[in-house]
Amino acid sequence: MHDFKFKNDELYCEDVKVSSIVKRVGTPFYLYSYKTLTDHFLKIRKAFLKLNPIICFAMKSNGNLSVIKSLIDLGAGIDIVSMGELRKALIAGADPQKIVFASVGKTEEEISFAIESGILLFNVESEPELTHINLIAKRMGKKVQAALRINPDVPAPTHEYINTGSLKKKFGIDLRTTRQIFKAQKKYPYVKINGVHIHIGSQITSSTPFVGAIKKVTAFIEDLKKEGIDIEYLDIGGGLGIIYKDENPQTALEYARKVVPLLQKTGLKIIMEPGRFIVGNAGVFVTKVLYIKDNGVKKFVIVDGGMNDLMRPMLYDAYHEIVPIKKNRSVKAKFDVVGPICESGDFFAHERMLPQVKSGDLLAVMSAGAYGYAMSSNYNVRPRVAEVMVRGKAFKIIKERETLKDLMKGEIIVQWS
Ligand SMILES: Cc1ncc(COP(=O)(O)O)c(C=O)c1O
Repeated sequence: MHDFKFKNDELYCEDVKVSSIVKRVGTPFYLYSYKTLTDHFLKIRKAFLKLNPIICFAMKSNGNLSVIKSLIDLGAGIDIVSMGELRKALIAGADPQKIVFASVGKTEEEISFAIESGILLFNVESEPELTHINLIAKRMGKKVQAALRINPDVPAPTHEYINTGSLKKKFGIDLRTTRQIFKAQKKYPYVKINGVHIHIGSQITSSTPFVGAIKKVTAFIEDLKKEGIDIEYLDIGGGLGIIYKDENPQTALEYARKVVPLLQKTGLKIIMEPGRFIVGNAGVFVTKVLYIKDNGVKKFVIVDGGMNDLMRPMLYDAYHEIVPIKKNRSVKAKFDVVGPICESGDFFAHERMLPQVKSGDLLAVMSAGAYGYAMSSNYNVRPRVAEVMVRGKAFKIIKERETLKDLMKGEIIVQWS
């Protein structure tokens, strides 16, 4: 499942002792295993081999150039949501014909750049957006391809903030409007509407919601066909859940067994957009214990990482396993693991059973590879941390820790006279 394992009471990432990286890099930092990352990509590819889909890694989950390059080298495409992501994907060597662009608010600048770059598909999220793309493409004298992102309005049992397949959410286009757009294709002569896209949410651990959404959308595609409307692509999005605590998510193979027969029937080219499944368990966040505090009501482990580095606990009340990187067999007690930031939401765990750790001990916050660094910020004027990748016996810094200069970049002390 992942390549972070204890050997002789020390946590290793593949063949590298995590403590040896701390000596070079300091703390806190994100640490990724190349093997876990690429194995997860290959697992999806193998499970879906029959369909030979374009697997577009959702780089919003982790946009580090080395992470995306490792996947691009194995044939991955990229699912992007901004011009920044598009630029990074191209720099990492992504094939534009394997890039799909979602986002409910694509700007003129982003659309023009994506057209210029020759991406495979715009995943269009509203009729006004389609009109806008058509206009920009006309001005540029280009014909582009788009898929309509359908909001299938199906229940997806996940956290409210990462549930995207309901009509109460801003994403995608309802079925009635989608049908109208397909029928009125002539209104958009510079856009070939050549696909349908769905993405119902993230960290979904059962295949039932995916199957429900795919059935709904394939029935819709069948209806379109009957009306003489043919498309080439079906993009089934991402959303596959992973193990953070005691979840029992479907494996790639179990997922494929359920959905491949439905997809195969369509005869369409399939696109997938997994993010978390590929990189979630491939990364940990390493942080150092600064102080232990006992206020008579609660015991706190205060660490040098904060919610600005890993927002998921504060944002989604997400669970991350926390382990000392040197096996500690002392009697466990309940602790809140908290950062130094001036917010009560600055925590990694509440009431967590942990051994008696002390100042200077190092902790690994597990399964932090997805939506970890990618969501980090400079809140409290804290530099973004370093990122490190291990491959076998070697490790490399793949993002330097930010400096004081980075923290003030672009800022100007105002002068009025
Ligand atoms: C359009 C789209 N595709 C793919 C993903 C990736 O989801 P996940 O990381 O759960 O696979 C997201 C995540 O929000 C998304 O919005």
